[in-house]
Amino acid sequence: MSSPLLEIRQLRKTYGSLAAVDGVSFTVQRGECLGLLGPNGAGKTTTLSMLAGLLTPDSGQVLIDGRALAGDTDPLKRQLGLVPQELALYEDLTAAENLAFFGALYSLEKATLHQRMADALAIVGLADRARDKARTFSGGMKRRLNLAAALLHDPQLLLLDEPTVGVDPQSRNAIFDNIEALRARGKTILYTTHYMEEVERLCDRVVIVDHGKVIADDTIAALRARAGSGGNLLKITLAQAPAGAWLPALRQLAGIRSAELAGALLSLELDDLTASASPILHFLREHHETIVHLSSDRPNLESIFLTLTGRQLRDT
Ligand SMILES: Nc1ncnc2c1ncn2[C@@H]1O[C@H](COP(=O)(O)OP(=O)(O)OP(=O)(O)O)[C@@H](O)[C@H]1O
Ligand SMILES: [Mg+2]
Repeated sequence: MSSPLLEIRQLRKTYGSLAAVDGVSFTVQRGECLGLLGPNGAGKTTTLSMLAGLLTPDSGQVLIDGRALAGDTDPLKRQLGLVPQELALYEDLTAAENLAFFGALYSLEKATLHQRMADALAIVGLADRARDKARTFSGGMKRRLNLAAALLHDPQLLLLDEPTVGVDPQSRNAIFDNIEALRARGKTILYTTHYMEEVERLCDRVVIVDHGKVIADDTIAALRARAGSGGNLLKITLAQAPAGAWLPALRQLAGIRSAELAGALLSLELDDLTASASPILHFLREHHETIVHLSSDRPNLESIFLTLTGRQLRDT
């Protein structure tokens, strides 16, 4: 197997007595989208800054394509494109001027730069706003321009630090579409966020960090299976609120972890949906209940984080 595009080993960074990043290791394979997830202050930005060579680790290694970066001018650095958490734009410059400025940092030839600027603006859906000043952009549009700036040197690996923070739902969807388009072009993506649903939509695998340490590194499917050993939630709305005399008998059916009735809504936690769904429906029919709505759900990453840490994800 070829070496991973990115490998970090035992990365560590302390600020005084605080270990912001405390021995973090993980790898990102070529073409993969890895989610780096953790609550506020978990150490995500500090990790990314060390990956991008903006911050020197106290100890540990960053390998890109199997090799360590040798200083700022190492051509290997061109494989990386960082989209920082804080916007890095000039408000008084137009979108195109902002991109030309960032492009100049990579000393691209004029023709190449113009082509890349046009490509980058098209990917983020701002082609028709190229001549407008950044200050006239909405928060979501600024974020998309920020993303475009990281694409100019055509990096293989994109490091995205919470690209949807402070963005309205419509722009958020546009950013997701942009990232999916980049993936389809074969880019490798490290996507940092504290939103579970973003990781669930975009990523194959997730590394969860908390207090500077990796607390999970797995596929989303495997993490789901870990939380509640693959349990399923089943919600059944009945035509009318039953007296519920049958509830204790229902709880006795095999594979039912819990069953609660709130008005006409019956909520069940099951070991296995395939095994239990049919006996439950049969049971309700025998008790002359009419089902008007039925839905099932899997444990999400939110509940996985709770299982792993005993805390809600958005707590700090
Ligand atoms: N320059 C600094 N000096 C002192 N402490 C810092 C510095 N940068 C980060 N920290 C601390 O290190 C910890 C990790 O910060 P970091 O910004 O990496 O977290 P994060 O996971 O990116 O959080 P967020 O989701 O809020 O962006 C925090 O406790 C933060 O206060
Ligand atoms: Mg951060």
